Amino acid sequence: MTDHYQVKDLSLADAGMMRISWAESRMPVLHTLRERYRQQQPLKGMRIAGCLHVTKETAVLVRTLRDCGADVSWSGCNPLSTQDDIAAALAADGISIYAWHGMSVPEFYWAIDQTLKFSPTLTLDDGADLIMRVHTERTDLAAGLLGGTEETTTGVHRLRAMSDAGKLLYPVVAVNDAETKWDFDNVYGTGQSSLDGILRATSVLLAGKRFVVAGYGHCGKGCAIRAKGAGCHTIVTEVKPTAALKATLDGHQVMTMDEAAVIGDIFITATGMRDVISGRHFDLMKDGAIVCNTGHYDVEIRIPELEQRAKSVRTIRPNCEEYTLADGRRIFLLAKGRLVNLAAAEGHPSEVMDMSFANQFLSLVRLATAGKRLEVRVHDVPVEQDEEVARLKLQTMGITLDVLTQKQIEYATDYLAGT
Ligand code: ADE
Repeated sequence: MTDHYQVKDLSLADAGMMRISWAESRMPVLHTLRERYRQQQPLKGMRIAGCLHVTKETAVLVRTLRDCGADVSWSGCNPLSTQDDIAAALAADGISIYAWHGMSVPEFYWAIDQTLKFSPTLTLDDGADLIMRVHTERTDLAAGLLGGTEETTTGVHRLRAMSDAGKLLYPVVAVNDAETKWDFDNVYGTGQSSLDGILRATSVLLAGKRFVVAGYGHCGKGCAIRAKGAGCHTIVTEVKPTAALKATLDGHQVMTMDEAAVIGDIFITATGMRDVISGRHFDLMKDGAIVCNTGHYDVEIRIPELEQRAKSVRTIRPNCEEYTLADGRRIFLLAKGRLVNLAAAEGHPSEVMDMSFANQFLSLVRLATAGKRLEVRVHDVPVEQDEEVARLKLQTMGITLDVLTQKQIEYATDYLAGT
């Protein structure tokens, strides 16, 4: 280890930088913002601690923050999602980074603690582990923090609960809740990257499979629509009536997990809830069933209950473990029940992370330049920011919009107009 990084293998830096360039060329909104703000240096004097998957797309965000004036210190937000070549490239580029693939849980928190050593003025989270560390171990830092951002649904839920309990120590922007984030990254990003992870780990034919998605939030919906498009018979399990109704009208079969367990070929959890697939479901599954998770934490599948039932376990392919049960049935668990899209594949494609990370960038600029601290609570991304990100994305795609005429504008607010 040197003083500004700990990564697996610095010799991977050139390969990592090549992949970062690939991502950069597919993230035109972030590129436009970097060029717009490079002169102004709105993040000058800011120290940003980030805890978010170390991928090629994240590297583009980190370099954008740095180029607009910030000092950055980074750790990964999941023990299995760090791409070691990207971590090496960032370290070689002078970024302070503590991340490697396959870190243990104590190492994971050690890495976060390293990033907190430079007394950040802003935090950036994906899952709220970093901000939680400030609130539990480093409360001394809170007074110096202007604010934080949160990337994911699970993290926003944690932070809203904390805010409601009056425990939040500094303001946070819920980047996840921007329309240009959740309606694209969560749906199309999770859908494509989760199927990508399943295919890389198993190489199975999707067409004709019974594909069970637990949870029909935005991420579950993304998985289900992509699996349907690939020719799967899609089954959704839900606890929420409105979500179950949407899934039904979107053409998926809705049933309980107890029913689905008997007939499913591939299972993916996308609920954000614990214990969604448990021992009694493993007892019902067919020989050869494939089980994985795309939710933020590895709590959705009760892996200890699979282990208890297994007479042997072996890694049969990368990210694919075969559990042979006492009665001879085999169940294949992918990526140890962690995020299959990031552990077995590369995460969401650059084109969609472009919008998510444009929102991260603009939210951090807002927190840095608000003048003084925003009120201590969870803040939404302003509608104007959402519209700006959408407008820029459309521009870079060469898509132009119609414009309302003056008569149409007047009509829109004319409550007297009827039949
Ligand atoms: N979350 C999902 N996909 C990601 C990616 N490519 N980079 C960073 N975070 C992600």
